Amino acid sequence: MTSSAAARRAQPAATGRPWYVPVANEEAVFKAAHRQGLSIVLKGPTGCGKTRFVAAMAHELGRPLITVACHDDLTTADLVGRFLLRGGDTEWVDGPLTRAVREGAICYLDEVVEARQDTTVVLHPLADHRRELPIERLGITVPAAPGFGLVASYNPGYQSVLKDLKDSTRQRMVAIEFGFPAPEVEQRIVAREAGVDESTAAMLVRLGAAIRRLQTGGLREVSSTRVLVAAGRLIAEGLDPREAAVAAVAGPLTDDPAITRGLIEMIDVYLETPAG
Ligand SMILES: Nc1ncnc2c1ncn2[C@@H]1O[C@H](COP(=O)(O)OP(=O)(O)O)[C@@H](O)[C@H]1O
Ligand SMILES: [Mg+2]
Repeated sequence: MTSSAAARRAQPAATGRPWYVPVANEEAVFKAAHRQGLSIVLKGPTGCGKTRFVAAMAHELGRPLITVACHDDLTTADLVGRFLLRGGDTEWVDGPLTRAVREGAICYLDEVVEARQDTTVVLHPLADHRRELPIERLGITVPAAPGFGLVASYNPGYQSVLKDLKDSTRQRMVAIEFGFPAPEVEQRIVAREAGVDESTAAMLVRLGAAIRRLQTGGLREVSSTRVLVAAGRLIAEGLDPREAAVAAVAGPLTDDPAITRGLIEMIDVYLETPAG
């Protein structure tokens, strides 16, 4: 990377607020819901800023953030805790959800629909007015400490309808919809996050928008802000913009040779190689 690109690149300070540009009223909704003890679900495609947003909100609200990446093998014990053998004794160890409940942290369940419904039932008494976590194995119920917040994310377009959230879970949550940011905002994000100049960022954003308009159905996901940032980072390292976009945009989006060729044609149209 050139030194100017390095200087422009956002270096997340250990203590500062994670850099997040608001896209609509999501910050106001999140803070109001958190103050009211309501659980929150973030809906939107992958790579549109949900994780960054939660990190910024947790920082602003002064709450620790505990993230759980959900998957279909996740068990209630993984969330709540289990007895472990420690030097001949069995000892109870809190899971991340229990820790968050006790500490008054924000518990972020990333891709919550990946988890099985028999796992997510433990969330119900936490998500509604009871705000408590029953721990069956210990025979106790832990009330949520002040400041506790339950936040889940999911990608409605990508996951199958079958795995969709149960109505009773959904209705216990406030929803915030995420989409891709407006072009000027996305350009700012790409420039800052990748450490590229505004015109390079603008070019990547136009490419991203064109791919999003395709709706071929052949793509599982469209070009997210994340892949545009990744392409920008490769350009900041000195790669030719077209090579960068083939590697960071076309490659991750599809394995299909015909669709790949189509994407590369678009990359050739939208990205110019800088003179010199
Ligand atoms: N509104 C935004 N403000 C700042 N950065 C953003 C924003 N939206 C997307 N990004 C960038 O895109 C990347 C992917 O966002 P992330 O929060 O990981 O997406 P998600 O959790 O929705 O998959 C982030 O690391 C960041 O560089
Ligand atoms: Mg995420």
